[in-house]
Amino acid sequence: MESRLPEGWWRGRAPGRVNLIGEHVDYLGGVVLPAAVDKHTTVTGHPAKSWSVDSDVDGGLAYVRGVGEELGLGPQEVSVTSEVPPGAGISSSAALLVAVAVGARPDLDGKEAALTSQRAEQRATGVQVGVMDQFASALGQRGHALLLDCATLEYQAVPFPDELAIAVIDSGEHRSLSDTPYNERRREAEAFDPKRRRHFDSEIGRVHEFVYALGRRDFNELGRLLKQSHESLRDDFEVSTPHVDALVEQASSIAGCYGARIMGAGFGGSVLALVEASQTKTFAASIGRPVIFCSTADGAYVAARGQGQ
Ligand code: GLA
Repeated sequence: MESRLPEGWWRGRAPGRVNLIGEHVDYLGGVVLPAAVDKHTTVTGHPAKSWSVDSDVDGGLAYVRGVGEELGLGPQEVSVTSEVPPGAGISSSAALLVAVAVGARPDLDGKEAALTSQRAEQRATGVQVGVMDQFASALGQRGHALLLDCATLEYQAVPFPDELAIAVIDSGEHRSLSDTPYNERRREAEAFDPKRRRHFDSEIGRVHEFVYALGRRDFNELGRLLKQSHESLRDDFEVSTPHVDALVEQASSIAGCYGARIMGAGFGGSVLALVEASQTKTFAASIGRPVIFCSTADGAYVAARGQGQ
């Protein structure tokens, strides 16, 4: 049972996310296929004289304050508990932002909450992130990935099979996005640099093929598309590193792994692998790096509505 909060206090809970395919295309108005995952951040807050945050997410205060101000809240004292490890590649920042939004403003529409959280992240970090992570955290659906058109914010829930485990492998190369060429890549793609656009066009094709292969339960084809996505992110968008390339190769060669690729912004970070659910123990033992196995979950706004709030 949820404990009762004193008058004026609020609490919100939101999940992290993975992105199955459709990388570095959200801010260009492309289609993406993320899913909310079963690792959550819970935030409790109440009005105070000044902003304070007890959180182990890097820059937690700037995020919480940023989304609070976007929502028109006055200063708050906020405490955070999280199963979303920072830097592990499952978007601890989106989980934190969306948890504040759903806690303080459960009446908001999930799309508005995602856009508000995106603006807050851009303000807090100076990185011109897209809306994918916040959208998945707000509106993901258990048992599904979301096929999201980032130009219109129209989306469709795509069933995701139970037999596939989603593995997120920590490369150990951690970086703060503001220290990477993320904004530069975005500018280059917006300026129609041919290599960057080649990634965009081929990746959009792969998102549609991936959805089609999911419908046919053709897991080998999913793996082939992950491999191609990695190659395009490595060679055309140039967001991988030699260490991550080696980890992708290694993961792909383990029995029961259908395929792997760099996930999220890149420049180090994490690797996504799709693994036969019965083979997760062998995979974890063979990979030699910390790995988190995730299942799909309801997004914060979907869960809040489900509880009749
Ligand atoms: C980060 C950003 C997203 C997206 C990915 C790359 O996770 O927050 O908006 O651009 O990188 O696909």
